[in-house]
Amino acid sequence: DKCMLIRGRFATKLTDVMEAINASIDFDQQMAMQDIDGSLAHSEMLSDQGIITKEDHQLIASGLSNIRQEISEGKFKFSRSLEDIHMNVESRLHDLIGMVAGRLHTARSRNDQVATDFRLWVRDAHDRADELLGELLHTLLDRAEEHANTVMPGFTHMQSAQPITFGHHLMAYVEMFGRDLSRVRDSRRRMNESPLGAAALAGTSFMIDRDKTARALRFDRPMRNSLDSVSDRDFAVEYLSFASLSMVHLSRLSEEIVLWMSPLFDFIKLSDEWTTGSSIMPQKRNPDAAELIRGKVGRVNGSLAGLLTMMKGLPLAFSKDMQEDKEQTFDAASTLEICLQAMIGMVSDMQPVKERMRTAAGLGHATATDLADWLTRFIGIPFREAHHITGRLVREADHRGVSLEEIPLDAMQAVDGRITADVYIVLGVDNSVNSRVSFGGTAPANVLKQVAGWRNRL
Ligand code: ARG
Repeated sequence: DKCMLIRGRFATKLTDVMEAINASIDFDQQMAMQDIDGSLAHSEMLSDQGIITKEDHQLIASGLSNIRQEISEGKFKFSRSLEDIHMNVESRLHDLIGMVAGRLHTARSRNDQVATDFRLWVRDAHDRADELLGELLHTLLDRAEEHANTVMPGFTHMQSAQPITFGHHLMAYVEMFGRDLSRVRDSRRRMNESPLGAAALAGTSFMIDRDKTARALRFDRPMRNSLDSVSDRDFAVEYLSFASLSMVHLSRLSEEIVLWMSPLFDFIKLSDEWTTGSSIMPQKRNPDAAELIRGKVGRVNGSLAGLLTMMKGLPLAFSKDMQEDKEQTFDAASTLEICLQAMIGMVSDMQPVKERMRTAAGLGHATATDLADWLTRFIGIPFREAHHITGRLVREADHRGVSLEEIPLDAMQAVDGRITADVYIVLGVDNSVNSRVSFGGTAPANVLKQVAGWRNRL
């Protein structure tokens, strides 16, 4: 029986339930390539150090590359009775090269083996996220540049607040996803150390070379402490925190896409490629991808909570609880990746309905702040008093059922005699947007400068 590879001291087999709860092969087969890479590096190091012979290493290496081939062609038969990816690969190696296969596990434990495989997997996930975030940032920058002059309403409390530009709004997300990119790079730098060679927990008496295996696996260095090497899952927690926050950013943008797509807003259109229909209501055009992104945040946040909870009571070193680190991390990574891809697609697809946005930007007296600012800047009225005067003008406009710029001058002067005809210059939405030239403000020239700055930095 194959499971006897590691069951010398046991007289009988596992019960079915024990096998079912114990096996991780259904999900950790995702780490097959990392497992083979780790084994190749380990075997080569063992041979360089004279711990195994060159011939044995060559046999092991060619067996492993056959296995790699079998797995990538889908021909490999994964077996639950072999528990996990490590035992599946090693057992197949026995089939292929016989007893020599047993030399591969010299000076190694599944504890440093799984820590290495998982780290390599999570490092790849960092790199995939880095790439997708870069693509999303470039897409947002292109659209922001294109719409640096497209006026839209800005909201606070979901109430019309002040006019902004669509470009400025998209650039706010560039800042958020830019921080996400810096977080994933920061975490990758910290996690890129090799646990391989820690063995079970205490190191090994064999004269191994941990620097060599670290280099072979493109780690910056070996981890300094053998107990920490096999016990640490910080790197997955950091990845999941980054992923959760990035999902939150994706979800906020998704929520805005859902709102903007509503016929009540009608701020953007998504093409047929990014919308779905209804089975009963023929007129419907639903932004399902945006809703799904908003919905999938729960999985990723849940994975973060799950991993933190799983780790928090574990004594050093390895406990089998830690096998639970993988499924949720794998799920979070594939969720983040599909969501980033969908967002890239929607951001490049969406078309703002400029006229509609511009009209909406003027609704709700959105230039009232401009009027108050004008009273302060040009008449010298203290801002609090200017705020009060403007409030009375807003009331006057509501009373007449018109917008601020439609109040005739004599009616304005009836509210405050110091007001002159120049006031109308600041009341249009374009004037408002163009005047917001303070650093970080929405003025189109500012937005274009920020786009250029980001392109330089990326
Ligand atoms: N399948 C295990 C995991 O995913 C591998 C490590 C097993 N080590 C052990 N001592 N049982 O973590």
